Amino acid sequence: GYLPVPNVQELAAVSKDVSARYIRPERELEQVAAGEFGQIPVIDMSKLQVGDDDELAKLHSACKEWGFFQVINHGVAEQVITKMAEDVQHFFSLSLEEKMEYAQLSTGIEGYGQAFVFSEKQTLDWGDMLYINATPVHERKMRFWPRNPSSFRATLDQYAAELEKAARSLLISMSRNLGVEPEKLLNLFNDGEQSLRMNYYPPCEQASKVTGVAPHADGTGLTLLTRLNQAQGLQVRKEGKWVPVDPLPGAFIVNIGDILEIITNGEYKSIEHRALVNDKNERLSIASFHDPNMDVMIEPMSDLLVKDQKKQAPNYKSISHRDYKKISRNMKLDGKDGGF
Ligand code: SIN
Ligand code: FE2
Repeated sequence: GYLPVPNVQELAAVSKDVSARYIRPERELEQVAAGEFGQIPVIDMSKLQVGDDDELAKLHSACKEWGFFQVINHGVAEQVITKMAEDVQHFFSLSLEEKMEYAQLSTGIEGYGQAFVFSEKQTLDWGDMLYINATPVHERKMRFWPRNPSSFRATLDQYAAELEKAARSLLISMSRNLGVEPEKLLNLFNDGEQSLRMNYYPPCEQASKVTGVAPHADGTGLTLLTRLNQAQGLQVRKEGKWVPVDPLPGAFIVNIGDILEIITNGEYKSIEHRALVNDKNERLSIASFHDPNMDVMIEPMSDLLVKDQKKQAPNYKSISHRDYKKISRNMKLDGKDGGF
């Protein structure tokens, strides 16, 4: 199982000293690129929807060259995002006792708690989270869905549904760019798995020596991230350096996960990223993870293995989604990056 670790919000509230368990060795805190790469691309989804060729080309190169981009005009109403922001803020502001009503079990990630911890020696992340599986709907574990604030369950439900729509819309544009039937890509995600990870990072006296989320690549299909307050922190790998992401107000930050990398036979890249914390301000973020249906095979799409009428070799082995989940979980327990 997973080892119990302290609640970071409580730690930050009672003591200014940061325990050695959170301090990363120097070599893990490499320098940030000095602006040489510019910002991750910004994609206007309203242009994708009308089939704008330039915007589609921009999306295609973002998926291949960066694995990360921001989307604007994504169709998710502003009030859906602000309501979610309010309810998430409200939840994290509750007393520890109230939040612990939704605590993770020792066997899983769902609920209120911290990221996977597998060893006493592991450097811990400076952050707490609330993690819920939103779909399949009939498998929802409502014990992990907070009732406080009273609107929270309905807000989570609505936010999840709206983000799933945005994710599917992006998949349609990606399939156009890849030259595959949109239905073939979308079908993999029908009745898929969607999870929400809500992150709370308290300010940290030694902010430059800790991470909110250690470097990793997401083991997902697609991830859509929202940042809820001004504090920055997300950084993306580019040619061995870290590029800070400057989120646009109201935009989502989208990244390709390992599963989509496999499905596209490596044409789209799942890129390593990390989240830093701030010394004065708290940071909040919400990641929405979109995964295929549990019954599909995770493998390069057959249509993509035919190029110029010639059959190309797959760069990845086929694996059932269930086995994939098991393996990435075991990699985590072994201290390797299984991705999240
Ligand atoms: C964040 O920017 O806070 C989230 C980073 C992640 O989940 O990878
Ligand atoms: Fe991530």
